[in-house]
Amino acid sequence: MENFEFFNPTKIVFGKGEIQKLESLIPYERVLLLYGQGSIKKNGVYDHVKSVLKDKILFEVSGVQPNPTLEKAQEAIDLIRQEKIQFILAIGGGSVIDSAKFIALGVHYRGEAWDILTNRELMLTQSTPLGSILTLPATGSEMNCYFVISKGTDKLANGSPLVFPQFSILDPSLSFTLDQRQVGNGVVDAFVHVMEQYLTFPANAPLQDRMAEAILLTLIEEGPKSYMTNDYNSRANHMWSATAALCGFIGVGVPQDWTTHGIGHELTALFGIDHGRTLAIVLPSLMWVMRTEKKEKIKQYGDRIWNMKVESDDDVKIVIKKTEEFFHSLGVPTKLKDYGISIEVVAQVTDRLKKRGFAPMGEREAVTLKKVEEILLGAIE
Ligand code: NZQ
Ligand code: ZN
Repeated sequence: MENFEFFNPTKIVFGKGEIQKLESLIPYERVLLLYGQGSIKKNGVYDHVKSVLKDKILFEVSGVQPNPTLEKAQEAIDLIRQEKIQFILAIGGGSVIDSAKFIALGVHYRGEAWDILTNRELMLTQSTPLGSILTLPATGSEMNCYFVISKGTDKLANGSPLVFPQFSILDPSLSFTLDQRQVGNGVVDAFVHVMEQYLTFPANAPLQDRMAEAILLTLIEEGPKSYMTNDYNSRANHMWSATAALCGFIGVGVPQDWTTHGIGHELTALFGIDHGRTLAIVLPSLMWVMRTEKKEKIKQYGDRIWNMKVESDDDVKIVIKKTEEFFHSLGVPTKLKDYGISIEVVAQVTDRLKKRGFAPMGEREAVTLKKVEEILLGAIE
């Protein structure tokens, strides 16, 4: 096992009706409510929050979009500075929570806020405290310190220990108004978060492996039920699995491979495909192209997750097919042609990764631009 440090200060308040505790979780007077494009107004979450926080001085920034933008974040940064707001309450999915984190840092940074995404050497020392009410189980943003922000067709990620939410309220019933497509996307996103921390090479970390496998198996069991119905317990298991997938715990001391996300972010930026859906396109092809480098873990994944012995390339194909069928059962397609995208994608994505200096990627930096080309070619149809 590799050396590691683990730190995660986010308090999770899980269960039906827990918004009731909001007031006692926010020991500040001047609070910004940050939310998206209206779902919280339609489903009553907004009114509920306002009534629980009736004794606070509330400010609002709404209209955060999926794949949140620098411009909207800047609006909130300006308001927080002007009104001396002390706390940010993000109410929504990953996009709203990610924005809150970026805003929290941007308020105290005196240069252009976009530098926070482009310059990893920046010394950031201060942030505005934040908390979240999660309405979409998917990204894990509610219990981690990462954020992904877009500017034009650039979509970039970063993280800082200064922006772990102080608390996150996870009430599965708040997600009952999601359309089915977002529920399916959320299961896939969580599943691939686990795979990016698991499908590398053996690192003498059986606890991390078995915790990763527990999340994968739970998502396979509960994900389709969560997708098909608003059953409280299935959604609760989906939600907690998604949080567990990216709160840092399964990734300590083990190699990681964030190639699927690296390529996926470019597909979202170029073609507007939902985040989770891009991952379902990239992962199966990546598993095939990198099957030699990932041989031992693919074998373990086949054995422990799909109950089959993986001895040959044909067996690898079956494991990949089972993974794809799982994504299909969630209504998520796995090929670029399903989005009307064809061969032109190969040069577009590799050029962008090259310009950003992102390649080679992967646990042993074995995913060269040549391999990215192969992965994209394999994902077309
Ligand atoms: O804007 P509103 O009206 O709220 O509608 C949203 C949005 O249109 C809707 N929604 C959310 N909760 C709802 C609801 N509709 C009805 N009822 C509810 N209860 O869902 C739509 C999508 O929301 P969004 O927040 O964009 O989805 P998600 O949670 O999948 O977040 C995706 C973003 O997170 C980033 C992605 O790149 C993407 O930008 N990620 C963040 C990560 C992190 N911080 O660790 C890791 C991930 O890999 C990911 O990259
Ligand atoms: Zn993701």
